Amino acid sequence: MARRRQLYEGKAKILFEGPEPGTLVQYFKDDATAFNAKKKGTITGKGVLNNRISEYLMTRLAEIGIPTHFIRRLNMREQLIREVEIIPLEVVVRNVAAGSLSQRLGITEGQRLPRSIIEYYYKNDALNDPMVAEEHITCFGWASTQDLDDIVALTLRVNDFLTGLFLGVGITLVDFKLEFGRLWENEEMRIVLADEISPDNCRLWDAKTGEKMDKDRFRRDLGKVEEGYQEVARRLGILPEAGPRDMTGPEVMQ
Ligand code: TMP
Repeated sequence: MARRRQLYEGKAKILFEGPEPGTLVQYFKDDATAFNAKKKGTITGKGVLNNRISEYLMTRLAEIGIPTHFIRRLNMREQLIREVEIIPLEVVVRNVAAGSLSQRLGITEGQRLPRSIIEYYYKNDALNDPMVAEEHITCFGWASTQDLDDIVALTLRVNDFLTGLFLGVGITLVDFKLEFGRLWENEEMRIVLADEISPDNCRLWDAKTGEKMDKDRFRRDLGKVEEGYQEVARRLGILPEAGPRDMTGPEVMQ
């Protein structure tokens, strides 16, 4: 295969120049990091699963009118995406207390929140992705008030839709992280969903047992990390290795 020009390498993905102007190829690695790369490892097959899971979720979201950067999956580890100007924010949505929220505020992990919370973190590894308020975001020009209005509206729709989608396959969507980008088309700017949605950036718990099926298995050394990612794909009906019988659609849970 002809090598393309590499534009950027992140912790879990590589971006290559795409075949046409305005497009990029997003390559999913098996590398895993946690705690701002203080912990490093490999999750065998993660790239393949995340490519497929993110394709599936972005496609479902596009069907309900959420604009995304996703164009199409190219192969097991790569997808074609639109080139966007990434807004330097990690937008975290929480439905159930877990992770840094539980640690910071002393709230028991697993407690359902009375309403969903949106938090913003400034994407900056050197600063350890600090949490920021809307005031910081608009003051330093990372996004405008209008951008944030669009981001919140899209984020709430994504949360509602994905909560239902995951619940349908017996998974609680505890929390997740989104990234957005600016897409320019004929002098007009639109905010679109970017990056990926996968067990790397969601907390996904079995709805009945509470078993974790996401990157916390790696972060917290819980074992069976690959199995967690595979189980998410299996329940969504998209496990790449599975036969055609398993590829027909999501498994409905009672
Ligand atoms: P947190 O509880 O550690 O703040 O994480 C909240 C959610 O955001 C969780 O689903 C994992 C995701 N996340 C990322 O995708 N990238 C990150 O760098 C961090 C810290 C969290």
